[in-house]
Amino acid sequence: MTKIRKAVIPAAGYGTRFLPITKVIPKELLPIGNKPAIQYVVEEAVEAGIEEIILVCNPHKIPIADFFRPDRYLNRFLEGKGKEKEIEDLKRIESLARITVVYQEEALGLGHSILCAEDAVEGEPFLVMLPDVLILPSHTGAKQLVEECQQKMAWGVLLEKVPKEKLSSYGIVKSVINPQGDFVIHGAVEKPTIEEAPSDLSLLGRYLLPAEIFKYINEQKKGAKGEIQLTDAINSVAQKTPALGILNSGKIFDVGTPEGLSEIYFHLKA
Ligand code: UTP
Repeated sequence: MTKIRKAVIPAAGYGTRFLPITKVIPKELLPIGNKPAIQYVVEEAVEAGIEEIILVCNPHKIPIADFFRPDRYLNRFLEGKGKEKEIEDLKRIESLARITVVYQEEALGLGHSILCAEDAVEGEPFLVMLPDVLILPSHTGAKQLVEECQQKMAWGVLLEKVPKEKLSSYGIVKSVINPQGDFVIHGAVEKPTIEEAPSDLSLLGRYLLPAEIFKYINEQKKGAKGEIQLTDAINSVAQKTPALGILNSGKIFDVGTPEGLSEIYFHLKA
């Protein structure tokens, strides 16, 4: 498999679970210690060998991209004050990866958001990383997914076991274990009922996808919640070319909710 160079980060949602603050501040910029949530995700991508981040934004969420761009007025101010360490810290963040911004003008769902990145992906296999899922430490998550998929020449998804009562909140995969002990994914269902759920393994927000996924997203009708779902396109591709399922070994935080954000504060403080 070719080197995985690009990661798409869909960040065009409205973050309604964080209202009212998300009316003016994207949830991806909420601070966790002295870093915004998005920085953790970009650092995880860089650990996985990613060189270019394709950020899917809506026009209200441009500050996320600004966070990774040099600000010459601020730099001039810091130079004048002799704040060398601050200048170096900012430079390190600005040089993590190339940031490309694409727009999703209407929030039509995660699948549609990924489709907005099609031109920027330029036909390569690529990572998708949901910015409201943080996985610590940063060398687990995306890095583990990319390394194992490259070794086995497959596309793949990171998985997490979920308790029965939570099955209907996630994308759930249909999988079998092959003789080598790997999870082989043949399909996926978004937010199934307990009865419909094909397993207890959920999609975790880290996907290594083939570029042909765009064709399948294009063909999708609206799915769960009336949105164009990435899981439905994954289901279609997996029926033709099965994917590798990798069990996550890191600790997950759902920073798309106030509870998850508090949990990570306590984790980092401990
Ligand atoms: P979520 O549903 O978790 O995020 O989508 P949200 O819509 O921002 O937040 P709530 O549910 O209203 O609180 C998962 C990811 O997909 C992106 C979101 O920005 C988030 O990172 N997304 C979702 C898009 O980019 N576009 C969409 O149309 C939907």
